[in-house]
Amino acid sequence: MNKKQILVPLSNNSYEVTIQKGIIGSIGEELNRIGINKERKILIVSNREISNLFGEKVINNLKKYNFYAEIFNINAGESYKNLNSLSDIYNFAFDIGLERNSLMIALGGGIVGDVTGFAAATWLRGIEYIQIPTTLLSMVDSSVGGKTAVNHPKGKNLIGAFYQPKAVFIDPETLATLPTREFKAGMAEVIKYGIIKDKALFEYLEDDKNRDDILNLENESLIQIINNSIQTKACIVSEDEKENGIRAILNYGHSFGHVIENLCGYGEYLHGEAISIGMRIAGDIASEKNLWLKEDSLRQNTLLESYDLPTQIPKIKKNEVLTILMGDKKVRDGRMRFILPREIGKVDIFNDISESQFLKYFD
Ligand code: GLY
Repeated sequence: MNKKQILVPLSNNSYEVTIQKGIIGSIGEELNRIGINKERKILIVSNREISNLFGEKVINNLKKYNFYAEIFNINAGESYKNLNSLSDIYNFAFDIGLERNSLMIALGGGIVGDVTGFAAATWLRGIEYIQIPTTLLSMVDSSVGGKTAVNHPKGKNLIGAFYQPKAVFIDPETLATLPTREFKAGMAEVIKYGIIKDKALFEYLEDDKNRDDILNLENESLIQIINNSIQTKACIVSEDEKENGIRAILNYGHSFGHVIENLCGYGEYLHGEAISIGMRIAGDIASEKNLWLKEDSLRQNTLLESYDLPTQIPKIKKNEVLTILMGDKKVRDGRMRFILPREIGKVDIFNDISESQFLKYFD
């Protein structure tokens, strides 16, 4: 299983996700393959750590294919996913004369991907961009589906656009340099796909041998879980690109996850860790309401814990939880929507969960 290609079928601008070991060293060739030729200027947006690791490899290959490319680094970290970083990218784009037929490449994790996508969506009213995600979380989630954004001081991802990339190139080898804690945090999103739609993936992740292979970064198993996750994501996004309905199920665990990230301070919990706790809370609410079996809830939590993901709810105040939930984009027509599981491999959207049913998990 050396290479996997997944089509994200959309009414306009369908694109392919290619997963291949070593693909980061042949981006020039890949751009040619999808019809992007050397006359086009390229701005690669990354951060210092990632561009030190992979920037040269990407640039050298682009040069070999006669592309003109420059790298611009934004600061790493959620606190830099803001309008200032965006403005720095625009300034650099202006300085190098990035034109309407130029291209941006996001080389990095979710923050780089989201900011670059939004920069591409807005520069000269929109230029094409490519995603090269280098963290597990961005490979299986944020690089696919066209959600681009920066944070507003009042909330996460409040300024953004749906803007699909031209292609996504995923190199599982980049995960070798990812800190173990970040890799495991990415596993929370993979487990999420198992619960929302893919029971076979969930069962694959439960197997001891598979878990060892995954945690040892064995190529075949990485490609398998990334491929299965993206298949699910592509299927949901193609049905509901702009999140008018079913796409919301991708947010399983995210409402409470965002509360935890927000109230405990970004950095205390990684995004995936907060989502893990969020899935535990959603699972508990669902079993209290008899939406799914208590055994399934325990099975979910056991799987999360087996990948060293947290499931203990931190001490946070009920009124603060309410404030964050009300400001979250997941509120529609003034009602809070929650994604709750029915069984492993199936979730539904609910807007009739009372405050007392979810606030009981907080202080
Ligand atoms: N990360 C959720 C989505 O892309 O819709």
